[in-house]
Amino acid sequence: LASIEVDVSALEPGMSLTVKWRGKPVFIRNRTDKEVEEAKQVALTDLKDPVARNANIDPTAEATDIARSAGDGKENWIVMIGSCTHLGCVPLGQAGDFGGWFCPCHGSHYDTAGRIRKGPAPQNLAVPTFAFVSDSVIKIG
Ligand code: FES
Repeated sequence: LASIEVDVSALEPGMSLTVKWRGKPVFIRNRTDKEVEEAKQVALTDLKDPVARNANIDPTAEATDIARSAGDGKENWIVMIGSCTHLGCVPLGQAGDFGGWFCPCHGSHYDTAGRIRKGPAPQNLAVPTFAFVSDSVIKIG
């Protein structure tokens, strides 16, 4: 199956990029320290969906911030399929009650780690298979 490589060297903290992969939008965000901190503060018991939904790790892993991110040392990076887990609309970035993403279709609010916090969506935004192939290039798929 097709994979793509994306150069993220121009993405300063706080910036994001949307690319298309297998016909779907993929959000890539270089989170600020504040956004990472906010996501880390969230108690797992406050999460509507406690599962990480990250294709790169154990499918039963909990939805901690690091488990949602690109991992150790790259925790600022988050890569997710931009398709609301309710009915598939494309959420808007840096929006909603939790400073992450907001789906305008029926009002789902995701936090800065893309975890569903409020609204009808049942699951966290999915993290696709991806890896950094160099310091500035992410391979998705
Ligand atoms: Fe996103 Fe319904 S499709 S809230």
